[in-house]
Amino acid sequence: MNIRFDGVTVAVTGAGHGFGRAIARGFAQMGGRVFACDLSAEELAETAAGTPGMTTAAFDLTAPGAAAGWIKEIEDATGGPIGVLVCNAGGVRGQVNRPVEDVPEEDWHAIFDINTHAAFRLAKAVAPGMKAARSGRIVTISSGAGLKASKTGIQAYCAAKHALVGLTRQLAREFGPYGVTVNSVAPGFVLSNPATIKQYESYGPEGQKALVQGIALQRLGTAEEIANGVFFLASSYASYVTGQVLQVDGG
Ligand SMILES: NC(=O)c1ccc[n+]([C@@H]2O[C@H](COP(=O)([O-])OP(=O)(O)OC[C@H]3O[C@@H](n4cnc5c(N)ncnc54)[C@H](O)[C@@H]3O)[C@@H](O)[C@H]2O)c1
Repeated sequence: MNIRFDGVTVAVTGAGHGFGRAIARGFAQMGGRVFACDLSAEELAETAAGTPGMTTAAFDLTAPGAAAGWIKEIEDATGGPIGVLVCNAGGVRGQVNRPVEDVPEEDWHAIFDINTHAAFRLAKAVAPGMKAARSGRIVTISSGAGLKASKTGIQAYCAAKHALVGLTRQLAREFGPYGVTVNSVAPGFVLSNPATIKQYESYGPEGQKALVQGIALQRLGTAEEIANGVFFLASSYASYVTGQVLQVDGG
């Protein structure tokens, strides 16, 4: 399989590390003109180092107007619509498992803001360009927590990822007549950030062994393996795939 994205404008959120970094780098290595955003300019610089073809922007995607403003900047810079949008930014925002009665409203909203609302705003912003071009790909990064209860125990994370899966399926129906596909990659548990490392450590040796034994391939995955699922869904090999959730979780 020879996947290329030569000349395609690709927008990747949350590209400062982890999956987003692997996704942004991979698209650039396959010829894409990559626009990558995250909170930290320093982390973005690391992502872009040694990878030509990447333009980075550090800002908070949940700030009012930020998502739409970034998409407009990209369209102005390239003179065309976005070819591929990857809504990857998300996560648990430093939160931990607590009984629901102890969860402050603002913590609930913080998780929805980045995992769900940002994807809605980004999709809204790319829609006119993609629909007019009658081509394009949107890939959201959901989670196993978007399909069943979350290992994190964080109510908002599970609910926000379920909502993201719903948004993905609904947008697939809406964008289908325009030749635009909308799919999701649901990663399994990967040690890609401090939150997942802390969570893994909290399981202890026995819990870690049980986690790995519960995976068909008997190992944890890597950020690059998650990115490969995104490349497939964004490529021409997935031209007849839409509204799907691809679980990249080792089975
Ligand atoms: N690591 C896992 O095991 C796992 C499993 C399933 C799903 N996911 C999902 O995969 C995605 C990527 O996660 P990850 O593991 O690479 O690490 P992560 O959760 O740390 O990465 C998310 C990235 O999004 C960025 N981000 C967060 N809030 C932002 C904001 N307001 N504006 C701009 N950028 C912001 C972060 O700075 C970070 O670089 C997330 O959506 C996460 O929920 C991760």
